Amino acid sequence: MLSTDTTGMSVQERILFLLDERKPGFSLPQEFYTDPDILTFDFEAVYMRSWLLFGFEVEMPEPGSYRAMTILRTPLIVIRGQDGVLRGFFNSCRHRGAQIMPDGCGKSRRLLCPYHQWMYDDTGALRAAGKMPADFDRSQYGLRPIHVRTIAGTVYICMAENPPEFQSFHDALAPLLAPHRLQEAKVAADLTLIEKGNWKLVMENGRECYHCAARHPELSVTFPIDARAHFEADGEDHTTRFERRMQAAGIPVGPVDDGWWQAVRFPLTPGHVSMTIDGKPCVSKPMVEAEGGDVGSLRWASEPHSFAHALGDFTFMFSALPIGPEETLVVAKWLVHKDAEEGIDYTREGLIELWNATNLQDRDLVENNQRGVNSTGYLPGPYCERSEALALRFTDWYCRTISDYLQPEPRQRLQIVGG
Ligand code: FES
Ligand SMILES: [Fe+2]
Repeated sequence: MLSTDTTGMSVQERILFLLDERKPGFSLPQEFYTDPDILTFDFEAVYMRSWLLFGFEVEMPEPGSYRAMTILRTPLIVIRGQDGVLRGFFNSCRHRGAQIMPDGCGKSRRLLCPYHQWMYDDTGALRAAGKMPADFDRSQYGLRPIHVRTIAGTVYICMAENPPEFQSFHDALAPLLAPHRLQEAKVAADLTLIEKGNWKLVMENGRECYHCAARHPELSVTFPIDARAHFEADGEDHTTRFERRMQAAGIPVGPVDDGWWQAVRFPLTPGHVSMTIDGKPCVSKPMVEAEGGDVGSLRWASEPHSFAHALGDFTFMFSALPIGPEETLVVAKWLVHKDAEEGIDYTREGLIELWNATNLQDRDLVENNQRGVNSTGYLPGPYCERSEALALRFTDWYCRTISDYLQPEPRQRLQIVGG
C-alpha cells in the first residue's frame, strides 16, 4: 500500500517513488508484481539490456543450423554460419517486418521471408529482394544483429547495443563447466510451463530453498537445503571433504560471482550422486568422466531469468520469460551425453521426474504467492537472511538495475544494435 497518492505521476516517476518506498531486506512493493506498465518497463530496462541464456550450442550444431525463439514479443534467431560462427538477429524482415523463420530449430543456409520472399544469408545479409528498383541498395537492409556469446557450450544473447560486460562471466564459468562436456551433449527433453505469476515471483521462488523441506519432498532428498547441517562421521564438514575430493580430481568448485551472475559446485546430501528421486544417476553414460560422475552439482545462475544445475549424468536448465504482468513462461531443458540412448542408457521419465515435479510444485507456490500479493492487504515482508539470501540478492539486483536505468549517464539508455 502506498502512503502517497501516485495518481498523475509518469511510470518512471512512480517507479522511482516505489524504489524509495522499498525497505531494505523486504520483498517489493505490490505494483512491481502486478502493474502492466511496470512489466512493459521491465522488458525495456531489464530484459532488453541483459544477457539471456538462449540455449546450447548443440541446438545449432552445423553450418546453417538455427534456433528461432520469441522473447517478450520479439522474435529472435541464432544461426551458425558456413564459417562455424554463431550469429544472432532480430527475426523480423527489413522489408515490412514479417517474422522470417518460425520459432523452433531447423537447418537452412538461407532465411526466406514468407511474405514477399526477401532472402537473407546466414550472415544476415540481404541477398535477394525481387522487383525492387535497380538502384535499390541491398546492403542497407541486412538483418539487425544481436550479440551472441558462448561459454563451454551454452549460448547467451543480448539485444542491447551496449551489453553488460560478459568476459568475466565467461572466464569464471568456462573452467567450472568444462568437465560437463556440453558441446558433446544433446537436448533429451524440453518442456515449457506457464505460471500465472509475475516473473519476479517466479525468480524469487527459484532463488531460495526456504520452502523446499515442506514443499519439495523429492528435491529435498538430494538437495542440501541446509548444508550446515551435514557432518561426516568423523566430524568433518561434508562440504570441506567434497571440496578436497574435487580438488584432487582437478574439478573446480568456485564459488565465483559478480553482480548479475554466480556459480558454485556443491555436494549433494551425503550418499547421493545425482539430483534424481533416489539420488542415483539416471543416465548410465555420464557427461563427466572424472570421479565416475560423482561431482556434486554445478549451479550457475544469471539475472534476470535463469539457473541451471550440471550433474555428473545430466544438466538441467531453467529460464523465465515474462508474458504478462501475472503470467510467465518457464522453459526447462535436460541435456545428456549425445551418445546416451533413450530406453537403453536412460528413460525420459526418469530423467525429468525430479525437476518436472519440482517445477509443478513451484508453479502452484508462485500462483498462490501472486494471489496473496494481489490482496489490498499485502505489505512487503522480510526475507529470511539464512535461507533467502539469493532471493534478496535478486530483488536488490533488480532495484539497482532499474534505478541505474532511470537515473543513468545519458549513454546508458537503451540502444539497439545497428539502431
Ligand atoms: S515483409 Fe518480408 S518480404 Fe515483405
Ligand atoms: Fe521451489
